Parts: sequence; structure tokens; C-alpha cells
Amino acid sequence: MNDTVMHVGGASPYDVVVGHGVAARLPALLGPSVERVAVLYAGSLGALADPIVDALVEHYDVLALGLPEGERAKTAPVAADCWEALGEAGFTRSDAVVTLGGGSATDLGGFVAATWLRGVRVVHLPTTLLAMVDAAVGGKTGINTGAGKNLVGAFHEPAGVLCDLSLLASLPREELVAGLGEVIKCGFIADPEILEIVERTDPDVLNADSAELRELVERAIRVKIDVVVGDLREEGGADGHPGREVLNYGHTLAHAIERTSDYTVRHGEAVAIGCVYVAELAARAGSLEPAVVARHRATLSRVGLPTSYDAASFDDLHAAMKVDKKARGSQLRFVVLDDLASPRILAGPGEADLRAAYEAITSAG
Ligand SMILES: NC(=O)c1ccc[n+]([C@@H]2O[C@H](COP(=O)([O-])OP(=O)(O)OC[C@H]3O[C@@H](n4cnc5c(N)ncnc54)[C@H](O)[C@@H]3O)[C@@H](O)[C@H]2O)c1
Ligand SMILES: [Zn+2]
Repeated sequence: MNDTVMHVGGASPYDVVVGHGVAARLPALLGPSVERVAVLYAGSLGALADPIVDALVEHYDVLALGLPEGERAKTAPVAADCWEALGEAGFTRSDAVVTLGGGSATDLGGFVAATWLRGVRVVHLPTTLLAMVDAAVGGKTGINTGAGKNLVGAFHEPAGVLCDLSLLASLPREELVAGLGEVIKCGFIADPEILEIVERTDPDVLNADSAELRELVERAIRVKIDVVVGDLREEGGADGHPGREVLNYGHTLAHAIERTSDYTVRHGEAVAIGCVYVAELAARAGSLEPAVVARHRATLSRVGLPTSYDAASFDDLHAAMKVDKKARGSQLRFVVLDDLASPRILAGPGEADLRAAYEAITSAG
């Protein structure tokens, strides 16, 4: 099947390409004006990085830097090591960074590219479903500090994103399923066809080779592109649409779950629980129909995502939500739905509703 090219407009336009084998487009995408390429790859993915580095070596001076595993890549010392390596290799403004890995690698690598000489080109080759549909697209980069996740970062649009579905073949099932949490989120906030695909497809068929997974990837990326192009710097959307904040559907509780569980719950799993939570909240503090709430549970659990949670008390999660950076002032903010694909901001819901919604996800499985 042909590759799918999705254009991202704005001040720094670029393409997101989806297909099997699209990593081979990398030299053409970097072009002839680049001399040096730093490949910042998740250290455990050497087998995926080798052929990509081999293809680049024919055209460029290549610096291959293996990163620490997962979230341990997103630290200031790792960024500093990368800056040192770029300096020793004599990286100039016309050279480029390539990231290969999950969202940890794209966030760290994007941050290094954003900061080296105040910004050099970066191309992302995401290798997790989550990174394809979320982290690699949209230009947000960042690292963690002792005080919390993603507190230091920069907006830096990539020069291109190559979503090579073949790279997903080795991804552990639970990582793929976690990525589906963000995909299904996109179904609720903007593209209900995503929900229909999930509902009519045998979950086992959602793998690296399937046309259905590919369509889900493309639809979720389309949702993200449409939202970020409408709201590149997170200033809010037009006509009362929440703008980029809509992508945080389910995330207020999800971040609280991640933090209070010491990040033992995967992000996509926490988002799944958080989506059911805001659906329950919208049924109480808004006008969401019970059938749409039920559909949250049905689609998310169908692919193996959790839809209930009882490992923390409401009071602990409530306190954690209040310190989330997404809260403005003392008011908690949630993206809620009035209906499928009809999102709005719910600011400052009453504690009774917040608690009742939590009770609904604690008891109902
Ligand atoms: N910048 C953004 O807009 C944005 C959006 C969403 C998430 N994020 C960030 O993304 C990160 C999470 O990303 P993630 O879920 O991709 O996790 P991850 O990058 O930590 O990868 C998860 C695990 O899967 C392994 N892995 C990755 N690809 C593989 C493959 N093809 N085969 C086998 N193993 C593979 C990784 O080595 C790692 O152990 C978080 O730090 C989050 O903050 C950023
Ligand atoms: Zn997310």
C-alpha cells in the first residue's frame, strides 16, 4: 500500500508520513545540505537503529548515541551528554538530529535539537504507538526534573516525522495497548469513526501489520494535527473550542494516577481510566448521555485497557490533581464532552461531583 503523507501547516510546516518501510525516506528527507547527523536512539533498540544508521552513513557523518531506557533518557544529565557529543563532533546549524524510539527518545532528542545552537533540524522516527500518534507530532519536547515530569522543555517543530509501522513489530503488546488509550481518546474528542473501527475489529488484529491499526494511527495523527495547527502555542481555540487542551481529555486524573502510583501505571492506561472518569463527571456535572459513558468503558476495555481504579483514595487523587500543572489557579479544569466529538472545558466542578465520579470508577469494573 502507498505511504500516507499528512501535511502539518503553520510557521514551520512539515510532513508526517505513515506506512511500512517509510524509514527509508530518511536520507531524502534530510537532503544534501546536511553534513552531520546525530541519531539519538533508545539504547535497547540497537537492532532497529543499525540499518537506519547504515543507510545514513552512505551520505553523512553519523553520530549514533544510545540513550538510557525509557523515562531515564529524559534528564538534564543525558541532554548534557548529548550536547557534549554534538560539540565534539562539530555540529553546526545546518546539521540534523534524528530520534528513534518511544516518546522518551523523541522528547529528549527533540529537546536536544531545540536547544543546540538554539535549534537544529530534527526528524522523528517514533517506534511506539504512543509516540507515533502523540509525542512525535506537535513540536512539544521536554525533560523531567526532580520536581516533576516535563517541567523543562521547548516547542520545536520537527522537519519531518516518519511513522514506520514495521518498527512496531517488536513493541510489547502492553505498550501497544497503552498507545491505543490515546488513539481511543482521539475517537471520543474528535473522530468517532475511530471508535467504530475499534468496535468492529478483533483486538488481536490490531498489530503492526494490520490495515486497521494503520487506519487508527492515521486517524489519530489527523486529530492531533488538526488540533495543534489550530492552536500551536496553547492559547486556546476559536469559537469556544478548548484548543490544544482538548488533547488532555482524561489526563487530569491520569496524571494524578501516574504520580500517586509512582509511575507504575503506564500513561496510556492511566489515560483510559481518566477518560472513563471524565465521562462519569460529565454525566453528573454536564449533560453526557449514559450510553456515551458506557461506550467509554466498552471500547477501552475491548482492547484490554483498564476502566476502573481503586489503588488510591479519592482524597489523595484530588490533592494530586490540584497540583497538576494543568490546573489554573485553584480551580480544577477538565475537558469534558457534551456528546461524541463535542468537547468543552469544565472549570471548577463541585467536590461532590468529583467524588461521585470517582466512586463510579472505583466500583464499576
Ligand atoms: N511531546 C509530547 O507531545 C508527548 C506526548 C505524549 C507523550 N510524551 C512523552 O512520551 C513518553 C512516553 O512515551 P512511550 O510510551 O513511547 O514510552 P517510552 O519511550 O518510554 O517507550 C516505552 C518502552 O518501549 C520500548 N520500545 C520502544 N519502541 C519499541 C519497539 N519498537 N520495540 C520494542 N521495544 C520498544 C522502549 O525502549 C521503552 O522501554 C513520556 O515521557 C511522555 O511524557 C510526549
Ligand atoms: Zn497523553
